[in-house]
Amino acid sequence: MNHARIVGTGSYLPEKVLTNVDLEQMVETTADWIVERTGVEERHVAAPGETTCDLSEQASRHALEAAGVEARDIDLIIIGTTTPDHVFPSVATQLQHRLGCRGGAAFDVQAVCSGFVYALDIAYRFIRTDGAQRALVVGADTFTRIINWQDRGTCILFGDGAGAVVLEKADQPGIIDSQLHADGRYKELLWVPAGVSSGYEQTRENAAFVEMRGSEVFKVAVHTLKEMAEQILAANGLTVADVDWFIPHQANRRILSATAKRLGLPEERMVDCVRIHGNTSAASIPLALDVAVRDGRIQRGDTLLLEGFGGGFTWGAVLLKY
Ligand code: UT7
Repeated sequence: MNHARIVGTGSYLPEKVLTNVDLEQMVETTADWIVERTGVEERHVAAPGETTCDLSEQASRHALEAAGVEARDIDLIIIGTTTPDHVFPSVATQLQHRLGCRGGAAFDVQAVCSGFVYALDIAYRFIRTDGAQRALVVGADTFTRIINWQDRGTCILFGDGAGAVVLEKADQPGIIDSQLHADGRYKELLWVPAGVSSGYEQTRENAAFVEMRGSEVFKVAVHTLKEMAEQILAANGLTVADVDWFIPHQANRRILSATAKRLGLPEERMVDCVRIHGNTSAASIPLALDVAVRDGRIQRGDTLLLEGFGGGFTWGAVLLKY
């Protein structure tokens, strides 16, 4: 079977920045409370009319450029997103059209904040089995569109953005291992109660937004991220000491710190963009990856552990040599 490796990364953030001081004007909160409980200082918010496909396109163009790959050479596009431009068609098909590459498979994956890890796992399996040669894998969300700006328990956390990687067939790993999981019992801890086949009509008058039981999500997230890291490392004969960079879903600084502590992983080896991005759902991991690649922290040959966790619950890990 083939191997697959990341040959380029890219990301994009909308121009508008929403600070904690701005949020103080919108809900009963303080900038200090937000920083202390979440680590978030600012997040980016898509402009009116700016869509998930717009963000995906910018991130993808940066990733293609970094990889030195022409869009016409991409034969698979997978986007992890919960906030598509349309009910259908998928964002991936629209992105394919904009980039000018035709004919290969293109589809969206809905695993909320684990969306990028799910998409990367699937692309990896396509390449492993000769179903594709070169994939564009994107995590993109305009999550602020499904936020209730009167709910101080959620509106302080989320932001918009997109990250992308080009994954290519290779002789050597690349991706060492990848695992995906889900447990639907936890639906109501983090969800949007209405959907296309349930309550969609009512949403015209009464929009449906994210609802979250934050402290319960918090506990499961820390436990799961820790267990999953230990599992995938042990399965591959590695330990935490072998990981050069840990890139977990950027949910909350306290979740990241607690996970690193339980793993015995020094925080200096964890990529943490929570302060400047907030929680960008499926975009958070590829955004953090791209930041650390471009600022020179992540070098070729480094061992990376990516971990997603999100609504469902869904979770997944990808272990790779960059
Ligand atoms: O991708 C996964 C997505 N979700 C997450 O990662 C969420 C994980 N959870 C969290 O990040 C945290 O649970 C939050 C940041 C959402 C909340 O922090 P917490 O330390 O778990 O606070 P809490 O929910 O236990 O609330 C403590 C208090 C409550 O007041 P009372 O009941 O003690 O009087 C809240 O009403 O803090 C209050 N509170 C706030 N106060 C000021 C909640 N939100 C705010 C706020 N400003 N924005």
